[in-house]
Formats: sequence, C-alpha cells, structure tokens
Amino acid sequence: MDFPVSRLRRMRRTEALRSLVRETHLRPEALIYPLFLVPGEGIRRPIGSMPGCFNLSVDEALQEARECVELGLGGLLLFGLPAAKDDDATGAWAEQGIVQTGLRALKADRAFDRLALIADVCLCEYTTHGHCGVISLEGGAPGAGGETRYEIRNDESVELLAKTAVSLARAGADIVAPSDMMDGRVRAIRAQLDDAGCERTPVLSYAAKFASAFYGPFREAADSAPQFGDRRSYQMDGANLREAMREIEQDLREGADMILMKPAMPYLDVLHEARRRFDVPTGAYQVSGEFSMLQAAFERGWLERDRAILESLISIRRAGADFIVTYFAKEAARLLS
Ligand code: PBG
Repeated sequence: MDFPVSRLRRMRRTEALRSLVRETHLRPEALIYPLFLVPGEGIRRPIGSMPGCFNLSVDEALQEARECVELGLGGLLLFGLPAAKDDDATGAWAEQGIVQTGLRALKADRAFDRLALIADVCLCEYTTHGHCGVISLEGGAPGAGGETRYEIRNDESVELLAKTAVSLARAGADIVAPSDMMDGRVRAIRAQLDDAGCERTPVLSYAAKFASAFYGPFREAADSAPQFGDRRSYQMDGANLREAMREIEQDLREGADMILMKPAMPYLDVLHEARRRFDVPTGAYQVSGEFSMLQAAFERGWLERDRAILESLISIRRAGADFIVTYFAKEAARLLS
C-alpha cells in the first residue's frame, strides 16, 4: 500500500500512539552500573575524564549500591584499584583483594540481593606494566632506549585469570566476567570454578572486545594504562566482524553462559550480527569514551542531555543487547521513572 492510503505519520501523531507501537524498550533492570573500588575509607575521588564517576572506598560503594537498588538497576560491574601492583597481578586473586572485600561487604547485606554482582576478571589493574596478562620482556628492560619488546604469555595468564575468577566467585560474585581476551580463558575459568564447587557461577565473557581508543578514560579510572606497547596483540582489530563471530563461537563452546560486546555504539553492526547468530544472553558495554564524549558535548551545550542519553541506549538495545553496562545507568533509570 502506498501513499495516500498509507500514511506512516498517522501512528506518530501523539505520544499515546507512539508509545503503543514502540518496538524497543529500556528498563532499569537491564542496566548495569560499573564501580571502581579503592582501599581505604570515606574515599569518593572524582575521575577527571568521567564527570560524575568516582573511585570509591568500600563504605562509599555501599552507599552507591543502595542508590542503585532504589533506582531498580539490574546490577553492578566491579573493578578494583589495588593498594599495590606487581608483575604477577597478585592483587587480582588475593583473599583480601579490593574487589573480594567489596563483594563480601555487599553480600553481607540482604538489601543488595536485588543486584547482580558482576566481577570483572582481568589483570591490567593489578600488574605494574598494565597489560591484561603476564609478560616476558625481550631484548632488555623497558625504557632502555627504543621500543620495549615483550610477549604476552597466554597460557600462564589464563592460569592466573582462572585463579582470579575462583577467588571472586568465592567472595560472592554472582557472575564472573573475563575481559582480558586471552585464548582459552573461558574453558579454564569454567573448569576451575567447577573444581572449586562454584558450578553455579555463570561466566559472562567479553567475547568480542575490540582494541579501542574509546577505553581511554577508563584507564584513568582504573589506573590500568599499559606502561609500554598497546593491547592490539590480544584485543580484536576493529575492522573484523567475522573474526568477532569466531571469538563468540569459541567462548560459547568453552562454556560461556552469556556474552558481552564492547565497545557498543561504534560496533552496533557486530552486536546485531551476534544477536542474529547466537541465541544466548547478549550484553553490550557502552564504554568510558562513549560516555565521556557525550558528557563533553553536554558540557558545551551541544547536545540535549536527557534525549541523547536515552537515544544512545535505545540504539544499543535495538541492535540486539539484552542488557547494557553503562556509566549512565543511574541517570537513565531516573529518566525512565
Ligand atoms: C580491562 C577493561 C577495560 C575496560 C573494561 N575492562 C580496559 C581495557 O581493556 O583497556 C574498558 C571499559 C571502559 O572503557 O569503560 N581489561
């Protein structure tokens, strides 16, 4: 049927009509809010490149979590900045590690039962060099003139990641989420979780994580910038959609319960293709750079804040995400209420 019988504007005339035929929806329960935990007490340190986000000591994080419960958010994604870093990322799996401590505090209060506590599993916040795995240096120490030559040691890194996942699950994580992009880590994590009696803990794999400039502000937030080199030997090349599908397929075969795509807005086609091909719960991470560039535009008055936030999130849902990790989670929940 063509115009004039068909007039698509008929269903756009009023908000009542528009909302009746709306195809995609945002719900606070499907939004996950990231938190950056630091040792100490009473600490609420603003993150310069991420307005409105903070490094929080555990007591402050509990306040934040209370707000998230009130807003009806789906969960928290926990990152940690340890008191000390070393070459083996000891802080990542330490019994008294910062995220482990935070998880135990959150689990101690039934008020937080409504939040899914997701623990990011990675080594970059805990290593002195800031890479997501164990490295071996080749041809001299870093800074000895010229480019540092190094190798990320995959299988050794996987061992440490699995150990980290078990430690976080034992401390109370409802979900463990490996974000390191080492090969074979999902299989190792699943096996070690099962061995440790954590067979009920799901693995949310950052299956398709691209080496992205949009992680810039996060590296300030988590103090995890690599001291030399970059992450391109383990995170994916932004040009590759087909390879992303292979990453997902392998992670699912290794036992991933859910997948996470990241970044979100610059990779909506990848997210959409993943949704089309795989019938598994699929999330997307609207990363720090996506957040900060919107914030920068809001500060200049160049974009309308509320509408831009909701439009960015609905685009991610429409592309196929069941849930979204976003630094706008609290604000979006307020807008939706
Ligand atoms: C750690 C990790 C990163 C992010 C999530 N987990 C940083 C990175 O890979 O460099 C980025 C999240 C964001 O930018 O908001 N591996």
